[in-house]
Amino acid sequence: MIGIFDSGVGGMTVAHAIEKALPEYRLVYFGDLARTPYGSKSPEAIERYSRQNIEFLIEKGARLIVIACNSAASVASDYVRETFDLPIFDVIEPAVKRVKNLQICVNEKARIGVIGTRATVNSGIYPKKIRELCLDAHIFSQECPLLVPLVEEGWVNKRETKMIVRSYLAPLKRKQVTALVLGCTHYPLLKKIIQPRIGKRTTIIDSSEELAENLKEYLQDNSEFASELEKGGENFYYVSDVTEAATSTARRIFGRKIELIKDKGF
Ligand code: DGL
Repeated sequence: MIGIFDSGVGGMTVAHAIEKALPEYRLVYFGDLARTPYGSKSPEAIERYSRQNIEFLIEKGARLIVIACNSAASVASDYVRETFDLPIFDVIEPAVKRVKNLQICVNEKARIGVIGTRATVNSGIYPKKIRELCLDAHIFSQECPLLVPLVEEGWVNKRETKMIVRSYLAPLKRKQVTALVLGCTHYPLLKKIIQPRIGKRTTIIDSSEELAENLKEYLQDNSEFASELEKGGENFYYVSDVTEAATSTARRIFGRKIELIKDKGF
């Protein structure tokens, strides 16, 4: 099975993209709702949670892991790759690759905006990885701590949310960024209000779609490994706590009811 974890149900944007790109593969998801949000936790705590989440997914039959949470990927990717001997994908690499493929690094001095939680922005991972591929890029990062709770409350189209998005994006708009990386699981749900506020000439990079495409390529290139992954049957969505807000966010992401199974209580 393909195991996917996130701090909550926001990572279902990634699970949904994988489900669309690879419908034949069986998925097992874990959302750590009891300990969410990760975006405001220390790196030590995020590393520990990530290790425990992967152990849980392996117990459930995962043979490949996707870190759908940007905060966990920013802080704990290297640590879990050293700890576990199985393929581990995260949401950061594909977004960075997409920045490179936009060719903006070649033609001009790239101006790239990155938005994410505090943990993601403080980790400095996106500027570091983007600069490895795009030497002279100007990168402008903006933490947006209010956006996750707004999405979880279902306030995706409210006037107040639009005002907050405008205010977070204002410094990036002034810098005239040519690409904007959505460095958080929840932000794809705000894409429709982000695009007009950053401007239509800015390309929005949604890690969930990029990751699903990269995963598909990997499985095509590694057909022997892919043939051993479970296919068909039901996907499972485990959580460490069930809340009303999470249940409705999950429904909004998939456009259908998702049964959240309470399993692990850390
Ligand atoms: N999943 C987190 C991320 O992508 C957002 C929610 C949280 O802070 O836990 O950064």
